[in-house]
Amino acid sequence: MAYSISLMREEDIAQVAEIDREAFPDMWPPTDYRRELKSRLAHYIAACDDERPVEKPKIETAGDEKPAGLVSRLRWHFLHGYRPDYEPPPASHYILGFAGFWLMAGEAHIISLAVRQSYRRRGIGELLLVSLVNLAARLDVHLVALEVRASNTGAQSLYGKQGFVIKGLRRGYYSDNREDAVVMTLDDVASGQYRARLSHLREALLKQACPR
Ligand SMILES: CC(C)(COP(=O)(O)OP(=O)(O)OC[C@H]1O[C@@H](n2cnc3c(N)ncnc32)[C@H](O)[C@@H]1OP(=O)(O)O)[C@@H](O)C(=O)NCCC(=O)NCCS
Repeated sequence: MAYSISLMREEDIAQVAEIDREAFPDMWPPTDYRRELKSRLAHYIAACDDERPVEKPKIETAGDEKPAGLVSRLRWHFLHGYRPDYEPPPASHYILGFAGFWLMAGEAHIISLAVRQSYRRRGIGELLLVSLVNLAARLDVHLVALEVRASNTGAQSLYGKQGFVIKGLRRGYYSDNREDAVVMTLDDVASGQYRARLSHLREALLKQACPR
């Protein structure tokens, strides 16, 4: 199996929407990833199995399909071309998980992180998180923040493992069941020491998640 991490692009939206619905079935309305990808604030990455052929996604996103290929590639380069080591992958890759943040005032706010159910507990979530923080550090972000459901102890453990610390609670934050959100942050991500650690960890995780 050959895993890779790359920036999310329009051709990925149907698969990402499928993973999103599986991971967050109670979220309504579902995230409009087409709009997210057009936003200059939003930055998304995807983890892919480059050797697995793409199956037809079960869930399609709303709206007309935009042309894949040249037009979409040109737009991708226009939006993301300033990140040379995050090249768009070939069109037919199978997405295992994705993650994204909004970048505002030097802070990255993680808005999504999900792995296909059948691929969990193999290090892909950790690989995505480390890659996302790595990307944030390259964009000179000094702080990464997120909210996570109080009951989602698995995700909290993942964030804790990567150095996030609990900063507080937002009471009744989630509208579906009024569940509290745990606020977690990671400071000083742009420091040279942290960048070096992230690059090293990301390479190690890629090798570990991708035994060739
Ligand atoms: C949270 C999620 C992304 C983790 O992805 P994953 O690929 O299974 O995670 P990994 O295999 O990389 O796990 C890395 C670490 O996270 C923690 N972890 C992940 N899932 C866990 C679980 N179910 N229970 C306890 N710890 C867990 C562990 O510390 C683990 O390290 P370890 O393997 O050394 O014990 C995945 O479970 C998911 O998509 N959940 C649904 C969506 C979601 O809750 N997203 C987070 C929203 S804030």
